Amino acid sequence: GLKKKEVNVLCLGLDNSGKTTIINQLKPANTQAQEIVPTIGFNIEKFKSSSLSFTVFDMSGQSRYRSLWEHYYRESHAVIFVIDSSDKLRMVVAKEELDTFLNHDDVLNKKIPILFFANKMDLRDAQSSVKVSQMLCLERIKDKPWHICASNANKGEGLQEGLDWLQGNES
Ligand code: GTP
Ligand code: MG
Repeated sequence: GLKKKEVNVLCLGLDNSGKTTIINQLKPANTQAQEIVPTIGFNIEKFKSSSLSFTVFDMSGQSRYRSLWEHYYRESHAVIFVIDSSDKLRMVVAKEELDTFLNHDDVLNKKIPILFFANKMDLRDAQSSVKVSQMLCLERIKDKPWHICASNANKGEGLQEGLDWLQGNES
């Protein structure tokens, strides 16, 4: 039969940004968790989407677990980086973690696509995806394809647009 293309996706971002909620929404309805709890370490989720088989490494964003992220850079074909658009106080922390990722030896020379979700767009304090993009200085990323989508993971809004972009860009 047809060989499905296997894609390893690494999901990064600060704790409470909505990573697990997003991954859960992307899974088939009958395999979705009813309740989302803070991730300990990381979880591996597998699901299919049209022509691709995804293996997602859903990392914990808690500071004590962020040192685990770098061990998965090498084997990843794409990165989903989630930002809580309403968390103005920690936007600078999110930028620091993004910078650390972008400057890592296993990432520097890799044309790995990065999909950003400016999540929690439903909250009143949420910044627009354009503003989030400016605060994270995304325009400086010239050597990798990247895309930012506003999303509401609780309702699943904006997620398919992001996934569609990723499907055309996975390396
Ligand atoms: P860690 O596993 O600790 O790194 O966090 P996480 O990034 O996986 O966040 P998680 O998916 O656990 O979501 C954290 C909280 O944010 C949960 O209470 C979610 O229901 C909530 N949440 C996620 N996405 C949205 C969103 O788009 N809007 C709103 N209002 N809440 C959201
Ligand atoms: Mg999580």
